[in-house]
Amino acid sequence: MAYQFGKKIVVIGTGAVGISYAFAVLNQALCDELVLIDLNEKRVAAEARDMRHGMLYAPSPVKVKEGDYADCADADIVCICAGVPQKVGETRLQLIDNNLNVFHKIVGNVMKHGFGGIFLVASNPVDVLSYATWRFSGLPKERVIGSGTILDTARLCNCLGKAFDVSPTSVDAHMIGEHGDSVIAAWSTASIAGVPLKEALEKSGDGAARMAQIHENVRSAAYSIIEGKGATYYGIAMGLARITQAILRNQQVVLTVSVLLDGEYGEHNVYIGTPAVLNGTGIARVIEKPLDDDERTKFAHSAKILREYQEKVSD
Ligand code: LAC
Repeated sequence: MAYQFGKKIVVIGTGAVGISYAFAVLNQALCDELVLIDLNEKRVAAEARDMRHGMLYAPSPVKVKEGDYADCADADIVCICAGVPQKVGETRLQLIDNNLNVFHKIVGNVMKHGFGGIFLVASNPVDVLSYATWRFSGLPKERVIGSGTILDTARLCNCLGKAFDVSPTSVDAHMIGEHGDSVIAAWSTASIAGVPLKEALEKSGDGAARMAQIHENVRSAAYSIIEGKGATYYGIAMGLARITQAILRNQQVVLTVSVLLDGEYGEHNVYIGTPAVLNGTGIARVIEKPLDDDERTKFAHSAKILREYQEKVSD
């Protein structure tokens, strides 16, 4: 395992998602300095201490501490997991008013200390809050990345891996659009070793029904997990860690994340989920997937919804 030396990550908001992400970063040796920031200073100090106690068993020693916004000055990545999470039955978009206020304060505090690294946004609604972070920070769009459909894509590959009895890592399929109720499964380009999955599913007779069911399972996954345990955090933390690895190891790898479009898919000025190439600079380039007419219509609808919510963002 190539350890990351001289890399510093700051996690803002150490609720379930933030602390799970921090734990993933520690156990994957993605950095050698990890700073935790939270309003609950007593709890965040205890979280940091708890992690330090296990350091003997970490793959590589990481300096873990509770900190403050001054620690962002020389951070490579600031990951924002703060804000209220979905309650049972609540949509991600319904969180916007509260979380927009939270983000306005947080991003302002980070930038006050001269942060010049990469923002990784995890809080929901992640596409709109990524747009807000880009606007509030003034950083170039390449350096403001939302987790987007990184987890939706993992859920889709999980479902298809099960359906075709292969590992999810052998499925080439993407969820795109809003990380939310208007998310789209890009069936027309989904494949396993070049075998088109749309045709394979249709050959089995009830292809359309199976694709609809798989899409619904992915779209509603968070709702059912929240119903069961109150929140989701491991899957998203693993997705955030994957994005972090791509950046800090300069991997030039394609992941589905939330990026600002500048003409791709015929869309402008909207943060939305699509495959993109990630490396040490952040977003190296956006990949505009070929879409069929149905997918293109749905993508435009998803972008329209997000743009309506983005209008709530004012500097
Ligand atoms: C989920 C959260 C991260 O989809 O929105 O689990």
